[in-house]
Amino acid sequence: MGFRTIVEPFRIKSVEALRFTTREERQAALAKAGYNVFLLRADDVLIDLLTDSGTGAMSSAQWGALMQGDESYAGSRSFYRFESVVRDLTGLKHIIPTHQGRAAERILFHTALEPGQIVPNNNHFDTTRANIEVEGAEALDLVIPEGLVPSRLHPFKGNMDLEKLERLLAEKADRIPLVMMTVTNNSGGGQPVSLENLRGVRSLCDRYRKPFFLDACRFAENAYFIKVREPGQAGRTPKEIAQEMFSLADGCTMSAKKDGLANIGGFLGMNNDSWADKARNLLILTEGFPTYGGLAGYDLEAIARGLEEVVEEPYLRYRTRSTAYLGEKLLAAGIPIIQPPGGHAIYIDARAMLPHVPPLQYPGVSVTNAFYVEAGIRGVEIGTVMFGLRPDGTETPATLDLVRLAIPRRVYTQSHIDYVAEAAAALGAMREKLGGYRIVTTPRVLRHFTARFEPLPPS
Ligand code: F0G
Repeated sequence: MGFRTIVEPFRIKSVEALRFTTREERQAALAKAGYNVFLLRADDVLIDLLTDSGTGAMSSAQWGALMQGDESYAGSRSFYRFESVVRDLTGLKHIIPTHQGRAAERILFHTALEPGQIVPNNNHFDTTRANIEVEGAEALDLVIPEGLVPSRLHPFKGNMDLEKLERLLAEKADRIPLVMMTVTNNSGGGQPVSLENLRGVRSLCDRYRKPFFLDACRFAENAYFIKVREPGQAGRTPKEIAQEMFSLADGCTMSAKKDGLANIGGFLGMNNDSWADKARNLLILTEGFPTYGGLAGYDLEAIARGLEEVVEEPYLRYRTRSTAYLGEKLLAAGIPIIQPPGGHAIYIDARAMLPHVPPLQYPGVSVTNAFYVEAGIRGVEIGTVMFGLRPDGTETPATLDLVRLAIPRRVYTQSHIDYVAEAAAALGAMREKLGGYRIVTTPRVLRHFTARFEPLPPS
């Protein structure tokens, strides 16, 4: 039509009230939560950007599909609908539903890994890493060097460093049971991976006879970035691009809580018959029978419909544009972020924003907590708290200290995002006053979820 404004490609049929709190109430709530925003009550949060996972709004078509759910324990009609949608997209032979992404990871790694082995990836997400380490194997990150520098512009900052991967395969092929690739690269800033890079990984995997798995949580956002950024791809639909991405892989883990546009669910897909047998037996042990995998029949219906909606172009144009909109506002306010903006979130470079707070005093926690106290906004630290604890119990600074503002799908409008940008600018103006934290109590695995903190006195 020639107009430049990108409108939300939906209208709102049902709303959920937000609860406003005072700064004093938020300060008390945060202290009670041990200065860990994971331990807040969600009712005490105004705008919740903790995660884009399972927090999206389903469409009226998805809610309608719920009523079609077949709750048969075995052989449910809803499973076959789910399986046909997933197979159409991925082309994979075995489609194994799971209650969320990490269940697919646990089953895959328990099936495929032995202690001492190595799994390379562009960047492993925290649950992926933890599920590899719990098997006694090593999770290795091989993203391209540009992917490690927040301010560096690159259209596909999630790409794998193919030279490093080749060297690893040449030297340690016998210890590598599979190669993974996370699309988009969540821990590296929601950055996409190009088709060219996926093809490069595929050909190395062919050369060394290794299976190649996608961590496909945000495959549709990745496909859309390929469409608009990769030469020669503009004329294809996001679905066609996604189908090619999956065709390059031998399997995938998927959290349907992201690009499945559902509130729960996931799946494990693969072509290998003997791994699939073993995986289904593990599934029965902890998730459920292979035609429901820990999900209700209605969940399978919601995911099937969500996977159809998520590749629609007006949705993906709105989705990527609204994330970029927040990123541009933060940059204009002088807040350092990972550039260019990724698909599902904006990542503030907390180490650059608070140069006076050393990594082991958790600048990411400091910025996250200030967002909450000042504005009622909940983001999440992706940095030294999340990644700094090594399996041997020692602590080292993570590569980056980031604060992720993840944008739930189809939930917040432009005024919510304008408010977030205004709050970020206010934090920028008071950045020198933000101090560090220390950990008071912590578990040994995935500590960021439950560790309790204490603010350090100003130095
Ligand atoms: N892989 C990636 C890249 C993820 O981002 C996540 C979850 C998972 C796997 C695990 O999926 O939560 O369904 O078990 N990421 C969420 C987040 C939690 O906030 O980024 P899950």
